[in-house]
Parts: sequence; structure tokens; C-alpha cells
Amino acid sequence: MDKEELERGALQNEKEKQEEEEEEQVVNPWEVSAKEGGKIDYDKLIEKFGCQRLNQSLIDRVEHLTSRRAHVFLRRGAFFAHRDFNEILDAYERGEKFYLYTGRGPSSEALHLGHLIPFMFTQYLQEAFKVPLVIQLTDDEKFLWKNLTVEESRRLARENAKDIIACGFDIRRTFIFSDFDYVGGAFYRNMIEISKRVTCNQIVGIFGFVGEDHIGKYSFPPVQAAPSFPSSFPHLFSGKDNLRCLIPCAIDQDPYFRMTRDVAPRIGHHKPALIESLFFPALQGETGKMSASDPNSAIYVTDSEKDIKNKINRYAFSGGQDSIEKHRQLGANLEVDIPIKYLGFFLEDDAELEHIKKEYGAGRMLTGEVKQRLIEVLTKLVERHRRARAAVTDEMVDAFMAVRPLPNMFN
Ligand code: TRP
Repeated sequence: MDKEELERGALQNEKEKQEEEEEEQVVNPWEVSAKEGGKIDYDKLIEKFGCQRLNQSLIDRVEHLTSRRAHVFLRRGAFFAHRDFNEILDAYERGEKFYLYTGRGPSSEALHLGHLIPFMFTQYLQEAFKVPLVIQLTDDEKFLWKNLTVEESRRLARENAKDIIACGFDIRRTFIFSDFDYVGGAFYRNMIEISKRVTCNQIVGIFGFVGEDHIGKYSFPPVQAAPSFPSSFPHLFSGKDNLRCLIPCAIDQDPYFRMTRDVAPRIGHHKPALIESLFFPALQGETGKMSASDPNSAIYVTDSEKDIKNKINRYAFSGGQDSIEKHRQLGANLEVDIPIKYLGFFLEDDAELEHIKKEYGAGRMLTGEVKQRLIEVLTKLVERHRRARAAVTDEMVDAFMAVRPLPNMFN
């Protein structure tokens, strides 16, 4: 099974290469693009990666175990795939806790809405299950992959930590760390245990590195793998080597954890479980992830109300018809409509969303009205984030990032 998982990864990569030539979709940690002119085919992705679809019965179990309504991202299928999430729930039901692990590569100053999604969701999971959380800031990864100095990546890590903290994490249960500062000791020992069990061929198979790539790339995957094991955090989990790990992430991070899951049983650990999200679509339409190089493809948490209004009105791809007459007659195509997709992520009220879809789909509501509602929803969200972030001080960042025990993390 473990070997199989890895071999499937290797085969996929071969296939991926061929498919790339046929201009098929490409999804890996560095590139997300749909087939020419199409959308990301998530069913195909699940099959290719070998993960499972998150079905309604799992969502029902989450609601039952946490005694609260499931998060919109779960109810509306934004988190749509998983690996062994059912085992996390089985264990939790037996009274065994788990810990959460997520992360961010600090490559830019300003985060866009797509960046916030895993953190908003992780914050919900932490609160609902009352479990500890480790957040990895891979300043080393971005130094290796981007044109950044060590100092600049470290600075961005701290800046991004403020946005992350602004998502509402509980300091009594949260440890945020930067690789440049934290890697060493028990964490490093795990990295080396992992490194010894992954061959160059496997890494090439999973990540597609080539001979010309510097060896920094080859040596990075164990850094992202190590936080999946509780023994990498002796100040938190000493004596709890059996603690399970759940990783919320966007599905492009799956390759790292395929590798991790293959190694885990061979070094005496549980395989980390995963709960994986779709990509948040670009304003221009659902053909890939948002691009950092095109500021008009995304809404940033630093955008003003005017920016938001402008971007949505000008760039948000509409499924509405060209003329009002035609629209009244045919209605909007909700499948391709970006305002509807965005409302699906961020409009909390189920009844209102259903109403909008019905009216817009039937042509009784116009694109302009739907966009107006979206502008309100996003302005409120961005405004709330801005206020929360402004309240995060350097001392708070230090406090979240201090290597310290968390005595109340399971209560
Ligand atoms: N590689 C991720 C990025 O570039 C950062 C990351 C590190 C991460 N560990 C993670 C993301 C765990 C999700 C889960 O953004």
C-alpha cells in the first residue's frame, strides 16, 4: 500500500509529463493550470492523486462530533477531498485527540482571498475540535524557489504571520514557526530519518525535479514532511508519539504528503491525514489558481473598498447573457459565473445564496445586482481582516512563535 502510493505518484508524473505535452491540466505545488480553455477537473485529480472524495456522511459526522454546524467550506464542498480523515474522526470519537498542521510559503507581502481559505478553515477546525495546531512558515522554501534573499524571506514570514494570526487562532493552542529559526534538534532528526527513506528517483517521480535543479530543491521535501510527526515538537508533544496529525491544505500540496505518508510507517509514525481544498478561482474565470503576477486576477486583503468594487465590476467573469433581453429569457450560466462561485465561499447565509442562484439562474436577477452583493460581502470580510491584522503587534508574533509548552492545548 505504501509503496503503491509512492509508485502511483511516480507513474502519475510520467503520465503528467505526457499529458502536459497534450496540454492537459497540470497540478503540482508550483503550477496549477487547466486544460486549454477548460476548468480544473477535480474528479480526475482525485483519481490521479489517489485521495478520496469527502462525502456528506463525513460532514454529518463532523457536525455530530463537534456539536456545531459544519463550516461553509465543508457544507459547500470547498474542502472536497481527503486522506484518512475518517480515521481521525474514529480516533476522536474514541476520545483520542489529534493535532493540526498547516503552513504557508511566505513569498509575498499581501495575501489574497485564496491564501486565507486554508487558515480560515483551520481556525474553525481548531475551535470546533479544541486541538493544538502547528503552522509552518517555509521561508527556506521560498528562498530556494524565488528570487529572494534569506533576510527578505524571513521578513516576509513575520509579516505573513500577522495575517495568519489575524484569522483568529487561539494562542493557547497554536505554535507558529519559521523554518530558518526552528529547524534543528528533534525536528532535524526527523528530517534526516525521512531523507534516508526517499530515493532520488522517487523525488523526481513525485515532484518532477530535473538534473539541472539545485540540490536545495531535492532536500526541501523532508522539511515540509517533518511537522507531520509529533516528535518534531518535543516542547508540545513529548511522550505523545502516537498522536495523529491532520493537515488542511489546498490539493496542490498533496505530493509532499504522498511522500510523507509513504515514509511514516517505516519510521514508526501514523500517516498524516489530509483534508484538501479546491483552488479559489481567479476573477477572470475558473481555469487555474490566481496568479501573483497579475494583481487584477485576485482580491487582496490590502485592497480598498474602491479596489474591490472596481475589480469585481470590471474583471469578475460573468455567466450572465450579453443583453438584458437575452438574460431575462435565458438566465445566467451559474457554472461559469465567478461572483456566484465567490459567494459560495463567502456568503454564510444558505437561504440567501439559494435565493440568488435561483433568481439569477432564471434571469430575474442581473449580473450587476449579484456583483453588488459580492462587493458588500467581500468589503466586509476584508475590512474585518484589516482591523484584526492592525491589532497584531510584534510582541504577539513573538508570543505565537515562542518555543514553549502549551499546557491547555487539549482542553
Ligand atoms: N509549501 C506551502 C506553500 O508554498 C507551505 C506549507 C508548508 C504548507 N507546510 C504546509 C501548506 C502544510 C499546507 C500544509 O504555501
